[in-house]
Amino acid sequence: MSHAEDRPGTRRDFLYYATAGAGAVTAGAAIWPLVNQMNPSADVQAMSSILVDISGVETGTQLTVKWRGKPVFIRRRTEKEISEGRAVALSDLVDPLAENANIAGEAPATDENRTLDEAGEWLVMIGVCTHLGCVPIGNNAGDFDGWFCPCHGSHYDTAGRIRKGPAPRNLDIPLAVFADDTTIKLG
Ligand code: FES
Repeated sequence: MSHAEDRPGTRRDFLYYATAGAGAVTAGAAIWPLVNQMNPSADVQAMSSILVDISGVETGTQLTVKWRGKPVFIRRRTEKEISEGRAVALSDLVDPLAENANIAGEAPATDENRTLDEAGEWLVMIGVCTHLGCVPIGNNAGDFDGWFCPCHGSHYDTAGRIRKGPAPRNLDIPLAVFADDTTIKLG
């Protein structure tokens, strides 16, 4: 049985922009500030795609936007973060899977399979700890230079992969694509 909203041509895309200007968040926080000023209703949010302007995101910072009721981290990684992420052996990973909605099947959790672009500059992830759902702190936090969830001590690396603590899975990567050079479409 299919739902009407799943059929091509019947699903409506609700688009709105989350801007990376004055409202940009440079680091994740346990309580994250709202960036989406338009505040669409819950039912619209549930099925929406959003366009995110990333033109104001500097290297080494993170923009957090709300999408489908959850925070999404959009990080522009530094060269150091990229090289750290790429140097990790798959055998060192707790969760060996990419957990990337943009890649079909069970792709390995290489750094390359986690990022939105080939160069590895852009990392887009659902900002919800895979343990019990807290929002991890970012900006090179934790023992692996990535994100740290203070609720029960989960450490994620620069590619958002779980490395230490109780979380069972890497941070999830949502459907995302570059709509143009300075815009990412989520969903
Ligand atoms: S919710 Fe993140 S470590 Fe428990």
